[in-house]
Amino acid sequence: MKKIFCMILMLLCLPVCGMTGPLLPVGKVPVPDNNPQTEAKVELGKKLFFDRRLSGDGTMSCATCHDPNLAYSDGLEISLNYPTTRNWRNSPTLINVAFQKLLFHDGRASSLEEQALFPMMSAFEMNQNLDYMEEEIRAVPEYETAFTEVFGDGDTSRERIAMAIAAFERSLVSRDAALDRFLTGDENALSPEALQGYAIFTGKGQCVRCHGGAALADDRFYVLGVQENPEHLNDPRIAATRRFVAKVSHFEEYRTLAEDPGRYLITNDRKDWQAFRTPTLREIALTAPYMHNGIYETLDEVIEFFNAGGGKDNTVLKPLHLSPTEKEQLRVFLEEGLSGVPVDFIYPKIP
Ligand code: HEC
Ligand code: HEC
Repeated sequence: MKKIFCMILMLLCLPVCGMTGPLLPVGKVPVPDNNPQTEAKVELGKKLFFDRRLSGDGTMSCATCHDPNLAYSDGLEISLNYPTTRNWRNSPTLINVAFQKLLFHDGRASSLEEQALFPMMSAFEMNQNLDYMEEEIRAVPEYETAFTEVFGDGDTSRERIAMAIAAFERSLVSRDAALDRFLTGDENALSPEALQGYAIFTGKGQCVRCHGGAALADDRFYVLGVQENPEHLNDPRIAATRRFVAKVSHFEEYRTLAEDPGRYLITNDRKDWQAFRTPTLREIALTAPYMHNGIYETLDEVIEFFNAGGGKDNTVLKPLHLSPTEKEQLRVFLEEGLSGVPVDFIYPKIP
């Protein structure tokens, strides 16, 4: 009964608030019950996020690869790395990451709390020993005070470090993009060209099939046939990273693995071979290069990829036959429509 009532209410509301289709404005940030947001916790998380103590050799913080000046990404095809190693995937933006249910290009982590410890332990990212890190943080009197204020005592456990960092990440929300104003009733929020692009995004281009909701991402995985970068395939350090990840994911033929298996490493299901998670499109103007391996420098290249019906052997995309004008309009929508008010940022004082 309650459900039916809600549905009627939503239907009545649709024409009024303009919420057509599955696109949603950025709303309230989802917060887990066991890690409520407090100002002091966000502030502590921010300090930890920028603290190079979190890496083994003290040269890297989370912000090294998620730089606030680069929309919390690092602007590179494949991300930076721990000295002497190489990363193998593109660093995603952390803006609006709170709306993403599964994290990483292959969805390996299901909460920000769980995710935060991966890069610290990763041999090719921060290469830190967590037992040591807990003591290193505890040895700093300012941190002990801050942990006591936030958690009730000075215990600097890895779980608490991850909780504080997750709280900080949940504060990185970009609001009031033209799309949000449009979806909540401002008919003039999108320029005429962006409005045409919106129509293609939700119509002929079928982008909204996967890029829906508030994050413009459906938390699902698809085999789009994005090609491997030949340069990456020939780099022995990237090969080492790829084999290492496959080995610790219990992939038997890791020694001969020559490509990124994507979601398959998590599910062991053949249909997930080279499937990757739909990423958010919010702030897309700022987060080039694109795709899990950063193969595309520009949005025009990405649009051309989808227009051509995706890559080799993909099962989900078909050619779209967009005209040059339509492709242009789609790009204008992505650039203008999805950029919110810049997330304000003041560099924290690291104790
Ligand atoms: C050396 C570079 C590097 C460092 C340092 C780093 N990251 Fe990342 N981060 C990446 C890359 C690359 C990915 C994508 C990896 C993948 O999908 O396999 C990623 C993914 C993420 C994601 C998932 C985003 C999404 O959309 O799924 C979050 C959240 C994140 N990092 C937070 C952090 C935090 C917190 C720290 C510090 C504790 C950190 N990162 C340190 C490179 C880095
Ligand atoms: C079948 C699902 C699906 C459809 C339809 C789809 N996408 Fe995607 N999109 C994805 C997935 C999955 C990725 C990530 C691929 C990867 O990382 O290799 C992606 C990546 C992107 C990226 C790069 C994002 C980034 O940060 O790297 C852009 C931009 C994009 N899509 C725009 C579009 C547009 C525009 C359309 C419509 C023309 C569209 N997508 C249709 C699933 C889809």
